[in-house]
Amino acid sequence: EALEKGGYDHFMLKEIYEQPHSIANCMRGRIDHERKKINLGGISEYAAKLLTAKRIIIVSCGTSWHAGLVGEYLIEEYARIPVEVEYASEFRYRHPIINQDDIVIAISQSGETADTIAAIELAKRAGATILGICNVVGSSIPRLSHTGMYTHAGPEIGVASTKAFTAQVTALSLLALYLAQQQERLPLSKITSLLTALETAPALITTCFQSNALIQHIAGEIKDSTNCLFLGRGINFPVALEGALKLKEISYIHAEGYPAAEMKHGPIALIDEQMPVIVIATKDSSYDKIISNIQEVKARKGKIIAIITEGDTVIRAIADYIIEIPPCEEALTPILATIPLQLLAYHIAVMRGCNVDQPRNLAKSVTVE
Ligand code: G6P
Repeated sequence: EALEKGGYDHFMLKEIYEQPHSIANCMRGRIDHERKKINLGGISEYAAKLLTAKRIIIVSCGTSWHAGLVGEYLIEEYARIPVEVEYASEFRYRHPIINQDDIVIAISQSGETADTIAAIELAKRAGATILGICNVVGSSIPRLSHTGMYTHAGPEIGVASTKAFTAQVTALSLLALYLAQQQERLPLSKITSLLTALETAPALITTCFQSNALIQHIAGEIKDSTNCLFLGRGINFPVALEGALKLKEISYIHAEGYPAAEMKHGPIALIDEQMPVIVIATKDSSYDKIISNIQEVKARKGKIIAIITEGDTVIRAIADYIIEIPPCEEALTPILATIPLQLLAYHIAVMRGCNVDQPRNLAKSVTVE
């Protein structure tokens, strides 16, 4: 087993560090560098159906559901097709309206999650087209889907999903850009700059690893907390959800992810000097708004840990701790901002003596309802 961990203490850490690689694998062969075009061979047969879809419904569970939320932002922004994101376990039991011209995207690392499979079967009976985004080749969901994309992140052993999530977001980015490109909706220059950004992701993730020692230090400062709040806005709201989920799963600290503006409708009541508040506050379209949210936390003496864009001096001056990520296209921030949150959860769990790779009560793949 030590050999399989490749010198890392845990599979989770190994898988975090594999992300420059896994993301490159997810993109391999799908980007025509010269023509700055996306080729998704597997789904080209269904391209017409995808492009005329009135609606896309994403069904998934856990971390894959968070990837689906990022996908909603990307597909609506670039392809302007309405997207709904559903927990498969809710969708399958609530008599949903499914039309024949709906596309159902099922996202799953394992390809075996029982609720996601049941949601697909329901949607198939209603005549929808199913597009699976899965990691495990030959698993049930790709076999049940009409078409799909593999994420090619490689085997994920740690129960808490890391590299599978960033590969899912990569696959969804490619899909959103593919749809935009087919529709000729976005100017070519925009598609080119987004593709260039995606191609730089592996190198930028490697830069994010430089903060590991700092993140370990911050982990030591907050490891004894009983609660943590994660805030984000826009495309980084799902990242806040994912950061909170990682912490809960492996460190057993209660954590909540919230859209930063919703904080005033409840969670703000919890903030005092005992409460670490982790904010994704990169220089994107929500930047000014998130600064006000940070100030609201500061006024109530919350301990602020901000994920910021390298060189930002404004938030550096307000926050208790800052973790920098390199400047990038907004569409890429979910992938980059996720890296420090994975490392933070990892170090806290290790310091608390938790079983990082196999947390209590959790399974890698939930094949029962
Ligand atoms: C379990 C795993 C999670 C995963 C979820 C969905 O809860 O512990 O890491 O996100 O199932 O699994 P899937 O394989 O469908 O992505």
